[in-house]
Amino acid sequence: MQSITPDRMKAIDTNCTHLGLKGIQLMENAGAAIARKVLSLDVHNNVLIVAGRGNNGGDAFVAARHLSYYGNIGVRVILAGKATGIRTNDALENFNLLKHCGINDLTEITDSTQSDVFQWFKEADVIVDGLLGTGIRGHIREPEATLIDAINTGNSYVVAVDTPSGLDPATGEGENTVMADTTLTFHRMKTGLENQGEFTGDVEIINIGICRDAEDTVNRGDLEPLLKRHIDSHKGQSGRVLIIGGGRYYGAPALSAMAALRTGADIVTIASPANVSDTIASFSPNLIVRKLSSDILHTNDIEILKDLIHAHDVVVIGMGLGNEEAIRQAVNQILPLCNKVVVDADALNKLQLPPPENCEMILTPHSGELARLTEKEVEKELPARAKMLQDFSRENKIITALKGKTDIISDGRYIRQNYSGNAGMSVGGTGDVLAGIVGALFCRTDAFNAACCGAFVNGEAGDVAFAKKGYGLLATDVIEHITDIMKQ
Ligand code: ACO
Repeated sequence: MQSITPDRMKAIDTNCTHLGLKGIQLMENAGAAIARKVLSLDVHNNVLIVAGRGNNGGDAFVAARHLSYYGNIGVRVILAGKATGIRTNDALENFNLLKHCGINDLTEITDSTQSDVFQWFKEADVIVDGLLGTGIRGHIREPEATLIDAINTGNSYVVAVDTPSGLDPATGEGENTVMADTTLTFHRMKTGLENQGEFTGDVEIINIGICRDAEDTVNRGDLEPLLKRHIDSHKGQSGRVLIIGGGRYYGAPALSAMAALRTGADIVTIASPANVSDTIASFSPNLIVRKLSSDILHTNDIEILKDLIHAHDVVVIGMGLGNEEAIRQAVNQILPLCNKVVVDADALNKLQLPPPENCEMILTPHSGELARLTEKEVEKELPARAKMLQDFSRENKIITALKGKTDIISDGRYIRQNYSGNAGMSVGGTGDVLAGIVGALFCRTDAFNAACCGAFVNGEAGDVAFAKKGYGLLATDVIEHITDIMKQ
């Protein structure tokens, strides 16, 4: 089974919340599983629960409650720090419940002078390490550092909750780290635990009831990390997008550009053929438009475009270009100049695949465009459609976001679906909006996540627009509501 990063796990946890599966339910399942593991050990008469102030500690408090049910097991609980410092409501609720479980030995530790408590480490048959999980940041501080040492100096059997405290769950590195006999990690293997060894002991993957859609469909948990911005970030740091489009149509590149701006890109430039650039510029004072030399995109403009591409993080190409052979030639000469590119609409026609080396490419076709690209009819049923997209993406080393009633996104390995969006979005221009959103997000995250989150944001904004305008919604209404979705 594939391992996942702690950040991905966090996104899945958050997606659960948005699907209605509360964190406290997951915590209950995690804690109950820890208790079952302890009960399965040969000797478990005296159990010491060492808990931190985050949700990892919350899982450990639940385990303590479950174990306290068996009157013959001595359960002791140490909280690292003060109860007033517990970071989450879920953990605090579970801590407070311990006061009603007949657990007499429950203490808060703030420094290493509470020597009577350190005797507990020597007396324990089993220690449950719930100090730190995926929320670990930086060097280990006190009192956690002292507690990690105390866990490691005893002879008890150590069960680590999710990851051994002190271990970086992404990389597997750690300075001051619990040496566990068993690590119970939840839902999926974490990248930092893959090389099971002196810190982790045996690693068991525990099902805590996470619903499949939290992982297989895109939701807010995937998007949330992209909404954060450093307080002193300056112009350009949040993304520079170059839109290459227009010629046959005027509106399409402007829609993409406005969508990219509303998604939070700092700088968006449109490079468009000479005959349409003034008109495009007149749509909004927010648009920067660079006029190309001809009335269609042409290889003559490659030198100007080279500089523009260099000055931007992501290129979005195709919207409203037209289908002439000269345009296709220009597109296929432009793509090798791009490190990160979103290919849409007219640029998808006769596109040369796989992309050039060093070019990370996202395609955003509808099923007609995908049929032309693959020279096959696109499957109607969702599973077959998804498999077709996965094969196409893998063979061509690209990310593909297939627009439809359910959007399907694949990087050739994983498949995700997006359920947001509605039938009102069949109006012209919403595809251009999607390309702009994906372009802006691609400045801030990897290609697969940008395509997934782009489909989600576009659909969610469309759903807000639909609630107000019904089937009369326009692509500009979708753009107007992107900020509702992108607000933290
Ligand atoms: N030194 C000392 N203390 C530290 C350090 C350090 N280097 N780094 C972090 N801490 C402390 C901080 O107080 C931090 O809180 P803060 O970030 O608010 O300041 C806290 O430890 C973080 O604690 P964790 O318990 O590691 O992190 P989190 O609260 O995010 O929980 C989780 C991690 C969800 C339990 C994860 O390990 C896990 O098990 N996931 C899968 C199982 C699961 O989902 N369980 C239910 C959880 S509830 C939910 O889903 C929201």
